[in-house]
Amino acid sequence: MTSEKNEIRSKTAELRDEIVALDAELAEDFRAQFSVAPFLSRKIVSFQGNKGKPAYSWYKYKEAFSAGLVEYFLGNYVGQMSGKVLDPFAGIGTTLFAASSQGIPADGIELLPVGQEIIRARLLSERELTSNDIATLERWIEFLPWKKFAERVPFSTIRITENAYPPDTIESIERYRGALQQENEKIQTVLRLALLCILENVSYTRKDGQYLRWDDRSGRRRAGTKAFDKGEILAFDTAITAKLREILSDIRDVQMPVTLFPAKQALEDIRLFEGSCLEVLPTLETSTYGAVMTSPPYCNRYDYTRTYALELAMLELTHAEVSHLRQEMLSCTVENREKDLLKICPQWMPFIQVANQQKLLAAINTYLQHEKDSGTLNNNGIPRMVRGYFSEMACVIGECARVLKPNAYLFMVNDNVRYAGVSISVDMILSDIAQSLGFEIEKILVVPGKKGNSSQQMGTYGRVPLRKCVYVWRKR
Ligand SMILES: C[S@@+](CC[C@H](N)C(=O)[O-])C[C@H]1O[C@@H](n2cnc3c(N)ncnc32)[C@H](O)[C@@H]1O
Repeated sequence: MTSEKNEIRSKTAELRDEIVALDAELAEDFRAQFSVAPFLSRKIVSFQGNKGKPAYSWYKYKEAFSAGLVEYFLGNYVGQMSGKVLDPFAGIGTTLFAASSQGIPADGIELLPVGQEIIRARLLSERELTSNDIATLERWIEFLPWKKFAERVPFSTIRITENAYPPDTIESIERYRGALQQENEKIQTVLRLALLCILENVSYTRKDGQYLRWDDRSGRRRAGTKAFDKGEILAFDTAITAKLREILSDIRDVQMPVTLFPAKQALEDIRLFEGSCLEVLPTLETSTYGAVMTSPPYCNRYDYTRTYALELAMLELTHAEVSHLRQEMLSCTVENREKDLLKICPQWMPFIQVANQQKLLAAINTYLQHEKDSGTLNNNGIPRMVRGYFSEMACVIGECARVLKPNAYLFMVNDNVRYAGVSISVDMILSDIAQSLGFEIEKILVVPGKKGNSSQQMGTYGRVPLRKCVYVWRKR
C-alpha cells in the first residue's frame, strides 16, 4: 500500500474517532432529555396509524404520520393553548385536520402539489358538498358514466412516468377525465381526488422510498436489474368505484352535524400556504402560533418528486417543473444544489452561523468531504446534501422560534441517518441548533425498536441501529 493511501486511511480513522467522541459528548449533554417512549409505536409515528381512519386513509402518503400522534401531543402537552397550530411541512395535512377536529385552528405549508391537492380536496369534500353533490357521486359509482363517454381527455407523461399503465387503463383514465368535465367544480375535485388516490394501484409501479419500482410488465426493466412483480394490478373500474365508495362513506360520517352527535367537535379553520416553507415562513407574523407539529423530509435521499411522479404528471406538471420542484424541496437528495439562503432571507445569517458552528455537524461535514476527496463515497452529492439539510433546517427552526408564542411547544418527528459508515445524530444536532435558536429541549423521545439502515450500508458496514425520535422543544 502506498504511503498516500495510508495517510488517507489514518485521516479517515482520525475523523471518525472525532465524530464518535463529539457524539458521545452531546449524548451526555442531552442524557436527561432522552427517553424511550413505549407509547410511541412505529405505527403511530407513521402512516400505518391512519389505516382505516376515515378520510386520513384516502391517499396513501407513506411519509405521513398518524392523526393519533398529533392528537396525543396536542392533547397531552398543549392542553388549553391559545393560537393556531403550524405545520411547515404539511404533507397531506395530518396535523391540520387532526388539530382542526380537536377545535384548534391550523396553518400548513406544503410545496408538493400532490399534498396540496389532497388537502384542498379533503377540505372541500368534508365541508362544502351538498346532498345533491353526494347524490351525483353516488350515480357515478352506480352507472360508471365514463365507460360510455366518447371524449377522451389525454393526460401528460413525463420521462419518468412513461409506460406506467396498461393500455386499457390509459383509455379508462382518459374517458373518466372526459366525463368528469360535465360536472360542477366541486364534484370534479372529488373525482380527481379519487383518481389521484388509485394511480399507484392501477399502474405498473410501486412507491419505494427513494424511487419508483417498475413491474416487469411495464417493459421498463433495465439490463442488469432484478425482476420485480408487484402482484395484482387493479382494473381501473374496480379501483375507482371502491375509492369513490370509501370517500363517500367517510364524507357522510364527517358531515354528521355536531348537534346530532355532541361528542363531535366543531371543525376549526384550516389554511394552506402553497409553496416552500423557506419562502413562506419569513412572511408569517412573529409570536402568533400556539404550537408547531411537524415532520420534515428526513436526510435520507428520498426523492418525493420521483416517488410521486405519476401523481405530478396527472396534475399536469411538466418535466421542467418537476426538476424545478426537486430543487425547491428541502435538501434531502444527492441532486439538490446549494440554495442561496441569504437571498431568500437576508436576516438568516445568525441561523446559518449556528449550523456552521455546531461541532458535531462540522466534524461530519469535514469527514464526508474527506471521503469524497479520497473517492470512497458511493455518491459525491452526499456532503452537499448533508450540509444543505442542516443549514436549511436551522433556518426553519429559527423561523419557528420567531413565529411561536413564548412557552409554546414544537414537536418534530425525524430519523437519524448514516453515510459512509458514520451515524449522523440528526436528533442531537437539530436539538443543539434549536437550543441556540431560542428553544428549551424538554425531551427527545425515542421510538422503541430501532430501525436498521439501507441494504447497501448494511453490506459494507454491518447493521447499526438508527434512532427515530419525536423532539419536544419549548420556546424560551
Ligand atoms: C415527512 S413529510 C410530512 C408528512 C406530514 N406530516 C403528513 O402527515 O402528511 C415532509 C413533507 O415536506 C414537504 N416539503 C419538502 N420540502 C418542503 C419545503 N421546502 N417547503 C414545504 N414543504 C416541503 C414534502 O413535500 C413532504 O410532504
